[in-house]
Amino acid sequence: MSPQPQAAVGAPLSRVDGRLKVTGQAKYAADHDIDGVVHAVVVDSSIARGRITGIDTRDAEAQRGVLGVISHLDKPRLTYRQNQVSNAFPGERLHVFQDDTVRFFGQPVAVVVATTLEAAEHAASLVKVSYDAEESATDLTRGPAQDGPPPFARPYARGNAEEALGSADVRLDLAYRLSRNHHNPMETHATIARWDGDKLTVWDKTQWVIGTQNELAAVFGIPLENVRVLSPFIGGAFGSALRAWPHVTIAALAAREIGRPVKLALTRRQMYFTVGYRPAYEYKLRLGSTRRGRLTAMTHDFKYETSRYEQFWEANLALGQMLYAVPNVSQNPQIVPLDVSTPLWMRGPGYGSSAFVIETAMDELAYKLGIDPIELRLRNEPGEDPSTQQPFSTRRLRECFRVGARAFGWRRRDPRPRSTRDGDWLIGTGVATGCYDVFRGQAQAHARLDADGTAVVQSATHDTGTGTYTSMTQVAADALGLTVRNVTFRLGDSAMPPAPAQGASQTMLSVGSAVQDTCDMLREQAIKLAVEDERSPLHGVDPDDVVVRGGRLHVKGDPARGETYRQLLARNNRTYLEARGSYTPEEESRFSMYGYAAMFAEVAVDARLGLVRVRRMLGVYDAGRIISPKLAESQAVGGMVGGIGAALLEHTVTDHRDGRIVNANLADYLVPVNADIPDLKAVYLDGEDYKAAPIGVKSLGELVQIGVAPAIANAVFHATGRRVRELPITAEALL
Ligand code: MOS
Repeated sequence: MSPQPQAAVGAPLSRVDGRLKVTGQAKYAADHDIDGVVHAVVVDSSIARGRITGIDTRDAEAQRGVLGVISHLDKPRLTYRQNQVSNAFPGERLHVFQDDTVRFFGQPVAVVVATTLEAAEHAASLVKVSYDAEESATDLTRGPAQDGPPPFARPYARGNAEEALGSADVRLDLAYRLSRNHHNPMETHATIARWDGDKLTVWDKTQWVIGTQNELAAVFGIPLENVRVLSPFIGGAFGSALRAWPHVTIAALAAREIGRPVKLALTRRQMYFTVGYRPAYEYKLRLGSTRRGRLTAMTHDFKYETSRYEQFWEANLALGQMLYAVPNVSQNPQIVPLDVSTPLWMRGPGYGSSAFVIETAMDELAYKLGIDPIELRLRNEPGEDPSTQQPFSTRRLRECFRVGARAFGWRRRDPRPRSTRDGDWLIGTGVATGCYDVFRGQAQAHARLDADGTAVVQSATHDTGTGTYTSMTQVAADALGLTVRNVTFRLGDSAMPPAPAQGASQTMLSVGSAVQDTCDMLREQAIKLAVEDERSPLHGVDPDDVVVRGGRLHVKGDPARGETYRQLLARNNRTYLEARGSYTPEEESRFSMYGYAAMFAEVAVDARLGLVRVRRMLGVYDAGRIISPKLAESQAVGGMVGGIGAALLEHTVTDHRDGRIVNANLADYLVPVNADIPDLKAVYLDGEDYKAAPIGVKSLGELVQIGVAPAIANAVFHATGRRVRELPITAEALL
């Protein structure tokens, strides 16, 4: 087949759904108007561990408009089948209202359903729950860790790290503490559930319609095809919507028990208790190096929190194994089960936490050796993946640093800590490497070309704000030879061809490749119809010599000879053509595939107040082909904003006496606001990686987050001479 001209891909298109969003027409989960809907409010536990001894619902039930209160006392029937598709973590997920046990503070213990939200909220406040509380443990630093390694994380070793450390010219032995963080998307989690006989329809905030569909079928013990999950718009998620949490089950359960459609929206406060979080870490890192800055050894001993009922895991091992050419490495990960709800992947999960440790340690090493931090990294660039001995599909980290150093003005820097001042402010600059895996998943798509020359393409993927509607429209438009205006992309419906979760930065690679495959098939079908049609001006032409542009098929190099899709379909009495295509990653890749970034930060620190202000940031990315430059830039800026939050502000504070999160609101849990955000620049290296995917992309969504916090931390050290091995870096730590 002849390569299609690329007109839409690579163009700085604005969001195709932008108008819907800014005019309020985009419907988020709680916005859907469902006939006869009633409202549910969750009552949650005020202890972290123990038993429920009684639930007094009399006052609540006496309120006008209240339709019912449901708790474990009603023994609601739920099947809780094992669910192979979306059972994320070993263990047993929280079974709602199935027993009197309290496993964490804020656990749902009852739900009130009423005709209005106000009535439900008021009645929920009148439900009196009594407990037999036991002493709870919610503090990671007090352990104890579970015997044996966490799931999917065998202790890793290559070479002999202890021996290499013993004989290293230079050693560092560093201890880190990373705080728990919450995702805090703008849109709170919400679910509307409606039963039609034994069929369940759910409008839900989810990054995985297929996963939620599977989970609800398993929980309610009904066939998969009886469940439909819709999630057309998502107001941010950052990972919190990657699994179906208890409130999703509760909405469907309440709808079944009350016999009406039910809407359940979590409050902002409830978002801190039952929709996951980035776990706290304690991390010890030791580095050994030659005097010339060649790493000889690295050991990683760390632990992070999980619940008592599920063993959370995240990708916190890869960077330690593959980022630098270190001959001797050991890793000992541990999990600490606590009386908390289960964490869930958040913004560059695992990679973000381990990168902070590795990349600030590299900076310490650079200072200890008197080597420029970029130069130190370049001296440890591996020629192949040191953990698998595989060649890299592409790895352009050197180029990221070279381009970034020039654009940022790195050479003008005086490396001495506290060497640069601007009035009361100490000025510092720092760098860090960003790196994130290329995850890939099976995806399918469907495309239909209508007689009017427009196309509808769909896949059960998602748009959490990342821009999927737009980028998939661009891919489809080029593959079909249509203008962007004539293509509609649909997503967010479990009845559509299946797609993976929108997580782990796999959407463009997986779904994008499926959309391209589908639209290529559809275009070839139309070309075949034309060249075999005696009445077509393209009759008898080699299909490989036909391209489509602006909805018109023509001979390559001879635009005059051709016809439009409309003419072709009309003459053949076809109301539409359709195709269904897919993408399946190869079972085992021969390549090591990662996205790379060089992150640069400049900060100003008030010498007397310890206040840190980020002055500018630059990210240079090796992410493969860039489909949608404007959205890729937005994503990078968003990653820097998220990284500024992680570096300086975000910190979930738990009162370990009772497991209560004390800053469970957006006033006390600090996230960056506009005034915190300076000039942020993103540069994507031109290029593509067709070993990673047929569409030539690597990963991007999380990559842009990974190196941000360590670059800022390194800049803070350069400004102040203070090395803070904690996240977030607070003013107190700098005084
Ligand atoms: Mo991302 S943390 O996989 O939504």
